[in-house]
Amino acid sequence: MSLDAIPEWATLLSRPARPSIRSMFADDPERAARFSFDVGDLFVDLSKHRWDDQLRDDLLAVARVAGVFEARDRLFDGDRLNVSEDRPVGHLALRAPRGEAAIVDGVDVSADIERERERLSRFVDAVVDGTIVSPAGLAFTDVVNLGIGGSDLGPAMAHRALRAHRRDRPRVHFVSNVDPAATAEVTSSLDPRRTLVIVSSKTMTTTETLANLAAFERWLEPVAKSRVADHLVAVTVDVEAARRLGIDDERIFPFWDWVGGRYSLASSIGLSLAFAIGNAGFSELRAGMRLVDEHVRAAPIERNVPLLVALLGILYANRDGAETKAIVPYAHDLDRFVDYVQQLDMESNGKSVGRSGAPLVGTSGPIVWGQPGTDAQHAFFQLLHQGTRLVPVDFIGFSRPATDGDLIGDDDRHERLLDNLLAQSRALAFGRPWDETALLANAEHREFPGDRPNTVILAPRLTPSTLGQLIAFYEWVVFFQGWIWGVDSFDQWGVELGKQMAGERSQSDASTELLRERLRRSAT
Ligand code: F6P
Repeated sequence: MSLDAIPEWATLLSRPARPSIRSMFADDPERAARFSFDVGDLFVDLSKHRWDDQLRDDLLAVARVAGVFEARDRLFDGDRLNVSEDRPVGHLALRAPRGEAAIVDGVDVSADIERERERLSRFVDAVVDGTIVSPAGLAFTDVVNLGIGGSDLGPAMAHRALRAHRRDRPRVHFVSNVDPAATAEVTSSLDPRRTLVIVSSKTMTTTETLANLAAFERWLEPVAKSRVADHLVAVTVDVEAARRLGIDDERIFPFWDWVGGRYSLASSIGLSLAFAIGNAGFSELRAGMRLVDEHVRAAPIERNVPLLVALLGILYANRDGAETKAIVPYAHDLDRFVDYVQQLDMESNGKSVGRSGAPLVGTSGPIVWGQPGTDAQHAFFQLLHQGTRLVPVDFIGFSRPATDGDLIGDDDRHERLLDNLLAQSRALAFGRPWDETALLANAEHREFPGDRPNTVILAPRLTPSTLGQLIAFYEWVVFFQGWIWGVDSFDQWGVELGKQMAGERSQSDASTELLRERLRRSAT
């Protein structure tokens, strides 16, 4: 079923225009409290949105008819929700606590998951404590993860976000782009004798990753000679492909076809992250994800916060014409978080046909963009406040700095950071009344109409657990939106043609030929 086929959506659209956000606050002193919610350690303020009780109920009626809770239960069962590829979707099983059944496509896979968690954990400990050393007999001091998309973004984002939780050794690095610069930037500071290389690829066919692996093998060969493979580890679904690379079985960490790349962080794809924050930290991240999973499983529909956020996003996309949504974390360490959500959201819901294969009526996944505040205020907040476009904003903030060790002396900068977050959310929602602006010079240029919806998500500190909660929160928003839009959120046929053309230098067209000629001429 798609949105346009849901009668309750037509009912919603027929409602009279509602008052502004400012007016709704003026009419209801309890609004802030009534539209704010707890999810695990997250506090989610949905009061500065273009909705009231009636509109919330209209949206929930749409969700009920769309069958969101039946879909949710199917996801918990690891059903074949990836309909176009007829594959189970089982990433929730990866965060099931030890000892609990984890069903995927009717099979309890908890023993497989636990076995691979144990293997990964023992390997990390053995490298860290020096039981496993390099062919030169030296401890591995650096780990490089080669991967791209879901085989890079999750661990790389989390490694960046959890700066305050990283251990001193080994240092962990990430190479994703096939641009030689990406590798050079990393190898310039490394000793090949002490470097462990993880090749992370679900399919082990991604050309960028394989080309970068070949480059690292050339980089390692002078010191490792015939033992380059002793510097390598593979994380993949295709174990045979890893063996063909000469990697021994005890250095291959498999995961499963029912784990989508952009949903794979809690699988062995998290190996590089476990090196960075320790096995305990990796386990805390999974537990944080589980907290939100449990909220989604148990919360009544009117307090199911990822569902409410998903419905608000649909309201702005499909009723109000919002083409994009901005995510602005007021946390420097979350400067890769938007990149991560971009793949999660846009590769899941950037579709124009429904699960049945029929063209969608109306819009689907938004363009996700953003960057940390306060930098964002000096980049694009002009457009957010006074532009012609509706851009819903997600603000993310933390009560305390990532670590008190970041503070210098009598330091009020974290408070200033939060003051800015709260001020921007307020200014977007409420604007400035015209009768105040009218008194100013250049008044016409200084109008702030407000009524620009935004969500504020707060957590106590940025930790493995709260990061896991944020990741799962956005996964669920994407899941509910995709289900209601009627798309298959778990395939990605759209990345196929570009990959295919990149490999076909012989095939061409007039523009590509002209560009290639230009490149040839200017390369000499
Ligand atoms: O971007 C397309 C994609 O297939 C992603 O879905 C995936 O995460 C990425 O490429 C890398 O794929 P692999 O892990 O198989 O190398």
